[in-house]
Amino acid sequence: MTYRIAPSILSADFARLGHEVQSVIAAGADWIHFDVMDNHYVPNLTFGPMVCQALKPHAKTAAGQAVPIDVHLMVQPVDALAAAFAQAGADLISFHPDASGHVHRSIQAIKAQGVQAGLVFNPAQPLDVLDWVIEDIDLILIMSVNPGFGGQGFIDSALRKVEDARRRIRASGKDIRLEVDGGIKVDNIRRVADAGADTFVAGSAIFGKPDYKGVVDQMRAALAA
Ligand code: DX5
Ligand code: ZN
Repeated sequence: MTYRIAPSILSADFARLGHEVQSVIAAGADWIHFDVMDNHYVPNLTFGPMVCQALKPHAKTAAGQAVPIDVHLMVQPVDALAAAFAQAGADLISFHPDASGHVHRSIQAIKAQGVQAGLVFNPAQPLDVLDWVIEDIDLILIMSVNPGFGGQGFIDSALRKVEDARRRIRASGKDIRLEVDGGIKVDNIRRVADAGADTFVAGSAIFGKPDYKGVVDQMRAALAA
């Protein structure tokens, strides 16, 4: 199983985001997780497509390899902003199905931009919509906290939903990423992987700490154990 660590810049130093992106990539990040909040769908406000555009040149390894920008849209409506982020360099764009009036159409609009599409499920949100669109998506993102803020506690019921999502992915026969977002730490990442996740968002576990690489290495060691 290939595991991916996707640090969320929500917890990074907003006064030097470019430097933070470079630092966390040097620490071994596989994706950069971009938590977009509109103070409408969630009670917080972060950054828009212009910041994605500004950071895109920094989302590269020292060897010049592009690092995927994983945009998590906590916004309503979805379609116009999704298109703007696609233009701004997003590699994956995921949105909450309850924030779109036409989920299938929103997925198609993202894919029409040549960008991978994902759906995000809040703690009380069932996976039922996957019955009709799992064939069309590249990523399933399970929220293990309520969206809007970093630094919250992991909601254990998310583990059951990860297991269900893994069963659905297996049945689909498609190579779909299964990402979990919220409250992920060195001491619980193994449990989340055992439930079936392959990609892990971590914000406050990494940013704000003195040694980003130390944390990422500990997470990888826990995953390899
Ligand atoms: C919630 C955000 C957070 C963030 C991760 O809307 O999506 O989950 O990415 O924050 P931590 O890792 O600090 O829980
Ligand atoms: Zn997120």
